[in-house]
Amino acid sequence: MKKMKSNTKYLYFVVPGVFSLGIVYLVLSGGIQYNTLYESPQTSDALKDWNIIYNGTLLREAIMDIHNNNYEVREEDVCIKTLPDCIIIGVGKSGTRELIDFMSIHPNIVSKSNPYLIKGELQSNNSEYSRVIRQMPCRYSDQINTIKADTYLQRKEKPAEIFAMNHRVKLIAIVREPVSRLISDLTMLTKVRKTTEKDKYISNSKDMKKRIEHLVNIPYENLPVQVYKSIYDDGLERYMKVFNKNQILVIESNEFKYTPVNVLKRVEQFLGIKSFFSNEHFVLNKQKGFYCIPKPDTYTKTMLCYTSARGRSNRVQVDKKDLESLKEYFRPRTERFFKLLGRRFDWLN
Ligand SMILES: *[C@@H]1O[C@H](CO)[C@@H](O)[C@H](O)[C@H]1NC(C)=O
Ligand SMILES: *[C@@H]1O[C@H](CO)[C@@H](O)[C@H](O)[C@H]1NC(C)=O
Repeated sequence: MKKMKSNTKYLYFVVPGVFSLGIVYLVLSGGIQYNTLYESPQTSDALKDWNIIYNGTLLREAIMDIHNNNYEVREEDVCIKTLPDCIIIGVGKSGTRELIDFMSIHPNIVSKSNPYLIKGELQSNNSEYSRVIRQMPCRYSDQINTIKADTYLQRKEKPAEIFAMNHRVKLIAIVREPVSRLISDLTMLTKVRKTTEKDKYISNSKDMKKRIEHLVNIPYENLPVQVYKSIYDDGLERYMKVFNKNQILVIESNEFKYTPVNVLKRVEQFLGIKSFFSNEHFVLNKQKGFYCIPKPDTYTKTMLCYTSARGRSNRVQVDKKDLESLKEYFRPRTERFFKLLGRRFDWLN
């Protein structure tokens, strides 16, 4: 039973441009329109050599190839489904999808191609746990299985439920500057159906200014979920009360976007698995500003990328003044989050 090993030299990848924090900085500093960054692709000589394929399915397949080619099944080992060893607990619109996909390149990390934990409770009963196990990919004894659950950081009941399910679980949260995350969410909201009463007033108004004015006057407990998801302090505090510090890793979205190898190396350490990721695994798609995966086993320079729409979602127009009010709105919560974390991100400058 042996499968091994191809050359990892040609696997790189795409940190998709889901995160567009840079744009917010642009807007804040110069009042430049929101979509500028992604509307004006740079041309680059280096890029001309590359054949770029935008297809998430092929990207995921390439990841699986690299993963499989670098994993050697041990004698007598069996691939079994278990409860999650590692859960990505959020936050939506910060790059959770990219994170779990890129993590899965590592031979000791497994995930499914649609790695969402089905919504619902994790009540400690066997039929419930069987349901969770069915959703997991199978893994060998030296592997870690992962799944993502984008809303879990903010859901009050989750820390205790997860702890009851697997008290040794590892939890990863990837978080993004609150204002850009919110705007990304609001942009999506204008495209999808309005689900709840609370959503309505922020999605119905075409005028972002009105939405924001409305928003800053809402009592905290009535905040629509899109806003609540940009508030990280309470969630982190709840998890810290239940889990040990060494079970929680917080990743900053932009850091992952621009330095994926550094971040993935931290993930390796956090999970206690061998060092695998290196710069060779990545190629920057300069047109889009995100990383792609060089197609393995070809001598033509082809990179596989998430769909070209990735990272283009910030179409909602927000003016500088509104962005400033939003920033001030989130500031106290963000400061508190940094304090809990014992670390600051470059969000409030
Ligand atoms: C992506 O590739 C898959 C597999 O080759 C193919 O079935 C699918 O149609 C492609 N998707 C797009 C949008 O081209
Ligand atoms: C156990 O979980 C299942 C699935 O979520 C649920 O339908 C059932 O009511 C639960 N049983 C008990 C005793 O809590």
